[in-house]
Amino acid sequence: MSLEGEDVEGSAGASVEAAPARSPIEIDVLTLFPGMFAGPLAESIPGRVQSRGLATVRVHDLRQWGLGRHKTVDDYTYGGGAGMVLRPEPVAAALDAVRRPGSTVILPDPGGEVFGQARAHDLALRPHIVILCPRYEGVDERIRSLVDVELSIGDYVLSGGEIPAMVMIDTILRLLPGAIDAESTAEESFTTGLLEYPQFTRPPEFAGMTVPTVLTGGNHEAVRKWRLKEALRRTLRRRPDLLEGRAPTKEETKLLAEVRAEEAAENAAAESSVGAERSPTEE
Ligand SMILES: C[S@@+](CC[C@H](N)C(=O)[O-])C[C@H]1O[C@@H](n2cnc3c(N)ncnc32)[C@H](O)[C@@H]1O
Repeated sequence: MSLEGEDVEGSAGASVEAAPARSPIEIDVLTLFPGMFAGPLAESIPGRVQSRGLATVRVHDLRQWGLGRHKTVDDYTYGGGAGMVLRPEPVAAALDAVRRPGSTVILPDPGGEVFGQARAHDLALRPHIVILCPRYEGVDERIRSLVDVELSIGDYVLSGGEIPAMVMIDTILRLLPGAIDAESTAEESFTTGLLEYPQFTRPPEFAGMTVPTVLTGGNHEAVRKWRLKEALRRTLRRRPDLLEGRAPTKEETKLLAEVRAEEAAENAAAESSVGAERSPTEE
């Protein structure tokens, strides 16, 4: 990541692999708090992605486009009310300075499209992304016409666009070819439209809980099938909405039917054991 155009090396926590042929994705961030980005974007995967030359992230202080001697960027809201609003002129000037043909300008906004993995995959293919980070009550409404997409990271209100921008950048950078093991991103939650299957590591027994034997048996096909079934089970239990808009494969349909039958049998067994334990006075 570089602050105001100066190159700052990200931390390299793992061996550096050769960068693939694709030109690095470029990301320009416009913010009143450039210092917020230093840690999250310099460490771990985001730092490594940059030091491998897969991405260039530049963070610009929006105040340099501020108005007058005091570099003013905000003003009172017309019509009265609490809080300040970012003025359009400094924001427009900053966008003019960094955007170019082919840029995608993002405005983090609680009212925007909910940022998800599909949008992250789409953004990871773009050559140049600009993220404008509002503060206060947000930006002057007229700025919305200058952005390409408004994205929300959830139904809550943060103090500014910086943390949403970091969430988006982190999600995008780890999807770049060469960033991490391609198998990891192909199988993780949301990429296939399902939540990820359960993961285990050593020891084989912990606090009386054991690792499913299929995972230690060395039969790759059995492991693949178990993982798919458990991904379906977890999605059905925790996020059934994800299954609704998704066309399952033949194998998934069969496994899902098995899961549903197992779940129904488990629920019936649980209910009958509660019934058996219930004292006559409770009934
Ligand atoms: C304090 S918020 C302003 C909230 C705004 N007045 C409203 O009620 O929608 C300041 C800025 O933080 C960013 N922000 C806050 N919550 C967000 C969210 N859930 N997703 C994306 N951006 C968010 C937006 O850029 C927003 O303009």
